[in-house]
Amino acid sequence: MKNYLIIICLLIFTSTYSFAVEGDSAKGKTLSQTCTACHSVDGNSTNPIWPKLAGQHASYIVKQLNDFKKGNRVNGLMAAMVAPLSEQDMIDLGAYFSTQKTTLGAAKPELIEIGELIYRAGDHKTGVPACMACHGPNGAGNPTAIYPALSGQHAEYISIQLNMFKAEKRNNDPNKMMRTVARSLTDLQIEAVSQYIQGLH
Ligand code: HEC
Ligand code: HEC
Repeated sequence: MKNYLIIICLLIFTSTYSFAVEGDSAKGKTLSQTCTACHSVDGNSTNPIWPKLAGQHASYIVKQLNDFKKGNRVNGLMAAMVAPLSEQDMIDLGAYFSTQKTTLGAAKPELIEIGELIYRAGDHKTGVPACMACHGPNGAGNPTAIYPALSGQHAEYISIQLNMFKAEKRNNDPNKMMRTVARSLTDLQIEAVSQYIQGLH
C-alpha cells in the first residue's frame, strides 16, 4: 500500500514537473521552420482552415502535439509533422508560439448577436453551457486548466473543430468536455459562435 502511494506521488510530481519545465523560445523558433509553410513564421496562419498558434498557451500546444503523436488526435498533415519531435522540442515550440502576438479577425455583423449569446450565456433549452465559463470572457482560455485561447482564431477552423467534436471525430478532450458542449449546437449556432470568436478579444 505504502509503495503504491509513493509511486502515485512520484507520478503526480513528474507530470506536474513536465509542464513546469521552461521552454527555450529561441530553440523553438529554429524548430518552427518546418511549421511555417502552414502556420506562418509568427504563428498567424493565412489559410483559415489551418489554426493560428500565435498567443496559444504553451501547455495546450504541448498537449496537442503529444496527442497527434500518440494518435489521440488524428490528422494526416500533423501526424507527419510531430513524428520527429521530442518532448523537449514540443516544449520549446510551445514557448515560441505562445509568445507571438495573435492577429484579430472580424465577425460577420449579422451573426454577432447569436454568436455572442451562445458564447456568453449558452443555450438553456438544449443544455449548451456558456463557452465563456471555460474559455474566459475575452477568449483568453486558461493555461493551468489547459483550456485553449480562442481569441482571434479563424472562424473556419473553429467551425471545423466544433463539427468534429459534435460528430465525435475529435475525441481528445478530457472528460468529453467539448463533445458534450458541441453535441446540441445547431449549424447556425456553430457558424455564429465561430464568427464571434474570430473577432473576440
Ligand atoms: C502541411 C501543413 C502543416 C504543417 C507544415 C504543420 N501543421 Fe500544424 N496543423 C495543420 C493542420 C491542418 C492542423 C489542424 C488539424 C485538425 O484539424 O485537427 C494543425 C494543427 C496544429 C496544432 C493544434 C492547434 C490547435 O489550436 O488545436 C498545433 C499545436 C500545431 N498544428 C503545431 C504545429 C507545429 C509545431 C508544426 C511544425 C513542427 C506544424 N504544426 C506544422 C497543418 C500543418
Ligand atoms: C467545461 C469547459 C469548456 C466549455 C464550457 C467549453 N469548452 Fe471549448 N474546450 C475545452 C477544452 C478542455 C478544450 C481542449 C480540448 C483538448 O485538450 O483538445 C476545448 C477546445 C475547444 C476548441 C478547439 C480549439 C482548438 O484550437 O483546436 C474550440 C473551437 C472550442 N473549445 C470552442 C468552444 C465553444 C464555442 C464553446 C461554447 C459553445 C466551448 N468551447 C465551451 C473546454 C470547454
